[in-house]
Amino acid sequence: LTSPPIETWDSEDSESKQLPIYQHRNKLTQAVKNSPFLVVTGETGSGKTTQLPQYLHRAGFCKYGKIAITQPRRVAAITVAQRVAQEMRCPLGREVGYQVRFDDCTSQDTVVKYMTDGCLLREVLADPGLSQYSVVILDEIHERSLNTDILLGLLKKIFSNPAKATKGRAFPLKVVVMSATLESDKLSSFLGDCPVFAIPGRTFPVTCTFGSAIGPKDIESTAYVKEVVKMAFDVHTSEVAGDILVFLTGQSEIERACDLLFEKAETVDYRFDVQDPTVEGLLILPLYGSMPTDQQRQIFQPPPPGIRKCVVATNIAATSLTINGIKYIIDSGFVKQLNHNSRVGMDILEVVPISKSEAQQRAGRAGRISAGKCFRIYTKEFWEKSMPEYTIPEIQRTSLTAVVLTLKCLGVNDVISFPYLDRPEERFILEALKQLYQFDAIDRRGRVTQLGELMVEFPLHPGLTRSLLKAASLGCQDLLLPVAAMLSVENIFIRPGRPEKQKEADKKHRGLATRVGSMNDFATLLSIFQSCKSSDRPSAWCKENWIHWRALKSAFSVETQLREILLRLQQRNFPVETFDGNKSELLRQCLCTGYFTNVARRSMGKVFCTMDGHGSMVHIHPSSSLFDQEAELNWVIFHDVLVTSRVYIRTVCPIRYEWVKDLLPKLHEVDVYELSSVAREEVTDKEMKKWETREARFLLRMSQKKLEK
Ligand code: CDP
Ligand code: MG
Repeated sequence: LTSPPIETWDSEDSESKQLPIYQHRNKLTQAVKNSPFLVVTGETGSGKTTQLPQYLHRAGFCKYGKIAITQPRRVAAITVAQRVAQEMRCPLGREVGYQVRFDDCTSQDTVVKYMTDGCLLREVLADPGLSQYSVVILDEIHERSLNTDILLGLLKKIFSNPAKATKGRAFPLKVVVMSATLESDKLSSFLGDCPVFAIPGRTFPVTCTFGSAIGPKDIESTAYVKEVVKMAFDVHTSEVAGDILVFLTGQSEIERACDLLFEKAETVDYRFDVQDPTVEGLLILPLYGSMPTDQQRQIFQPPPPGIRKCVVATNIAATSLTINGIKYIIDSGFVKQLNHNSRVGMDILEVVPISKSEAQQRAGRAGRISAGKCFRIYTKEFWEKSMPEYTIPEIQRTSLTAVVLTLKCLGVNDVISFPYLDRPEERFILEALKQLYQFDAIDRRGRVTQLGELMVEFPLHPGLTRSLLKAASLGCQDLLLPVAAMLSVENIFIRPGRPEKQKEADKKHRGLATRVGSMNDFATLLSIFQSCKSSDRPSAWCKENWIHWRALKSAFSVETQLREILLRLQQRNFPVETFDGNKSELLRQCLCTGYFTNVARRSMGKVFCTMDGHGSMVHIHPSSSLFDQEAELNWVIFHDVLVTSRVYIRTVCPIRYEWVKDLLPKLHEVDVYELSSVAREEVTDKEMKKWETREARFLLRMSQKKLEK
């Protein structure tokens, strides 16, 4: 590999020359060249994500294959690719592109490819040797996302064997692992003591203050939204020029905070009310994952002279995206996190206190250009009592069903002794195996079934995939594809802030639900999809019905993509079944095949009880068309749950007991330890004997059950 003399690079972009990484570009490319694995660390904002791929590109790595850079968040993959395309002066999607779930913006010419970690994981599945790539950069390792952690283990497993790493390649694959924190020793030893390249950063001191309003008891309330708004406003009026970055947890909260702040900012008289006379206005910008990308781009632009920028963001601004010019941080102390909830036995998104290390990371965002200030709205007591030291990696707190299936399809049979950077608790792995067994994706010996091989192709929740495949085998995929697409996009229903508008929207939404005939939230989604699609003016249709047109547009695209996957699979050995029931019940019966793990039965009044062994008491969420009709329902299935003071089930559909009668025993009949003993590749003879007798007992039980029927 010959690299061009780097000194002569005409880095036109003077801004990128200022970045700390620039000084080290020669040594860095050399380090990548010299070792199969390399760990790169450096403060957030030092230029790792945007610059290193460009250096490698210029050093000629692309002659041997593309450069992949993974990101845990889709927004980060998209905005960073935009930025890099701009720096490399090419249209996005040409030399520089991105690929995220359901959105591929790459072409034949793409050599620098930003992608989500989930997308790369799918590519490993199709081509474990990653033969298209010369370098794979796993970025944002410190975020410890589930998919990144799995990729790390896989790449270690596949490429730490030199023979495998070079098999069929002119140039051995280089793996670079980038992190913003100082876990470099742990990473390096995990990757066989590989070299570490630390980019020295310069940061300025940030003074942090605690508040008095938000204490440990405020976890469940949204009082902190008001408090951050008050604090941001105080900073705006009393501090010298410099931009503000506010951390909140999610879209609706952020929009509310922006509205409140906007109202307050309107009242400012700039002649008297602000301390710094150079400050003449406030520009308020929201930043969250599902925002349109052109709006996201605005975040990075410097504000007009005299105007102070205030970005109200989710945790995405903590490490994935760096906004220049930030001098003040307002930290709410909370984050939205996907956690496995043992009370309901499902993964749910919940608002939790951030960790102390996360709080330090947030504060650090104020010290990039000069000394900064961080205003924590929570008390010192909150910090001490409610905030953990470190954030627990996702792999240790969420469902592993999808990744265990992926691993198994990659031939990693022993998912328990897979090289995990941090090992998940065994019961989480067992839970995943159990779910896969329930969905018929693996057999009792832990081996992937034919169905499992089909399931792994869909980037959807396994239960939803199971239903979709059932429908496809009955030839009625047109019922399930739109439903799956609608459940994969965010926020279909517009919820206006003002009460009178809310009433109007509610009325429209109720109208959409009754149109279906029988009340069923899944069927409502299908009907919305179909009505909008067949409308002459779909965007007007959405507006009239208080539906987000942007969400529907993505649902259309997702549906097409799912259909393509299905068509491809149908050319393989695809199961065919016949249906001899009532046609009008087809959708609901297909749903039961994948959602029998989410069955609830009315226990008394409005209270339902789940049937999955947890026996949680749940209520139908007010957003469901079945809310207020509980009295007539006995059995329902639901898509997900929301936990507040109560456990609510959302996207609900009534079913008949007969449809799940044969499936429900599956929830209990399998003993997870039976599955786990087969998960191990090297079972001793003694264990094998034990297993065999257990299996015999198991089979006996099954045949008895069949006889009973
Ligand atoms: O990856 P790391 O945190 O080390 O830094 P980076 O994301 O490469 O950011 C380097 C610089 O690019 C920062 O000054 C960012 O503000 C800037 N950037 C930008 O202006 N627009 C983007 N979409 C992404 C980064
Ligand atoms: Mg980065």
